[in-house]
Amino acid sequence: MRKPVIAGNWKMYKTIAEAMDFIEKIVPVAAAARHCEVVVAPPFTALAAAALAAKGSKVAISAQDLYWDKEGAHTGDVSPTMIVDAGCTHAIIGHSERRHDHGETDEQVNRKLKAALAAGLTPIMCVGETLAQRESGGTGQVLKTQFEGGLAGLTPSDFSRIIIAYEPVWAIGTGRTATPEMAAESHHVLRDLARAKFGDKVADGVRILYGGSVKPDNIGGLMAQVGIDGALVGGASLKVDSFTSLINYPGA
Ligand code: PGA
Repeated sequence: MRKPVIAGNWKMYKTIAEAMDFIEKIVPVAAAARHCEVVVAPPFTALAAAALAAKGSKVAISAQDLYWDKEGAHTGDVSPTMIVDAGCTHAIIGHSERRHDHGETDEQVNRKLKAALAAGLTPIMCVGETLAQRESGGTGQVLKTQFEGGLAGLTPSDFSRIIIAYEPVWAIGTGRTATPEMAAESHHVLRDLARAKFGDKVADGVRILYGGSVKPDNIGGLMAQVGIDGALVGGASLKVDSFTSLINYPGA
């Protein structure tokens, strides 16, 4: 059985005080939600405070990115060791906003994934096609390229520690969600890629989350699909009420 994961990606939102206040309110919600794992990804500045507020609870704290070296002359970057030191257990890697705003490549995603695993973090690796790629029929190929490039050189045992997030770029922050059927189809493609590369057992165990304009009123339909194992949520994860509804999605 794959335990669903409901993850909030706060992007560049919330001060330290706002993050702590939110986490304190979500701790009892996560404690009562036995059906899923709850992950919150605050900005770097709030990670340590959020982790303190979440200590001993069922709320896991994630970074939104990391750099692959342990330390060094890399102005503005944050290492996996530092992220663990701040109290994180997860790290989002290869989010489309990193890929598009910062030109992040599959090769860099791969280095980040390996560094995250080496530091004991659970990577949440994001993949997804743009609107132009979807409209030209290229979705399957894009997913294959990102999947294989990002996961190059990993063993089945490494892969079993990773969470995948399918996030079609055209659905992120646009209010335009993939239909449950469209999302399920891409999840199926990804699980088949996992099967071919890492074998049945690992492929059947990997959690594949959907992300892109997930809201309390559409999460139920998405989660009802076999093969959708949770959600990575941006905008709707910023308010306690809405994130609570997502954790307790219809059918949970
Ligand atoms: P959104 O963002 O829910 O605001 O569309 C999702 C994400 O980027 O992870």
